[in-house]
Amino acid sequence: LDKILNLDCNLKDIATNVVLSDGNFDSEIMFIGEAPGAEEDKLGKPFVGQAGKLLDNMLNFIGLNRKTNFYITNIVFWRPPGNRTPTKSEINTCLPITKSHIKIFKPKLLIFLGNVATKSLLKTEEGISKLRGKKLTYIDEEHKLKIPARAFFHPAYLLRNPIDKKKVWSDLIELHNYLKEKKIRF
Ligand code: URA
Repeated sequence: LDKILNLDCNLKDIATNVVLSDGNFDSEIMFIGEAPGAEEDKLGKPFVGQAGKLLDNMLNFIGLNRKTNFYITNIVFWRPPGNRTPTKSEINTCLPITKSHIKIFKPKLLIFLGNVATKSLLKTEEGISKLRGKKLTYIDEEHKLKIPARAFFHPAYLLRNPIDKKKVWSDLIELHNYLKEKKIRF
């Protein structure tokens, strides 16, 4: 935590709280979102606002529950004003923390929510509509890590574009099958 609080991130001074993570640290699945919104900033926990409720509801359908079987964090730990997309520099400042967070947690599966998490951790310029539904791999050469990954639409995007909720069903079913096949605990 000290390392995070010492990060030189311009958002720190305008945010109310630092928002790190929620869920079960002993689980095998790690979700990574973008940055806290208003509710998250107020409560100091990720995904507790409207988008978080949608995410919890979707994941509940396949038996995932953050109290018991997944862990969730964000790329950026402070709320960008007005919920704007974090800048490259804000992302790059926070990224080393997320990478060591992944190394320590060692998930059996990583799930990126939205473009910011996907692009920053997969080092790709491809967008979420191209990458969702595909088997992806997170590679951290420095720590010799190769972790299976998936990219999902961000729940805040789904709130704005409910038509795409349909596509999430097949992603959720694929995820559920994968967890069973690989005997990942959930
Ligand atoms: N959106 C995110 O990406 N993260 C949160 O914690 C809340 C909303």
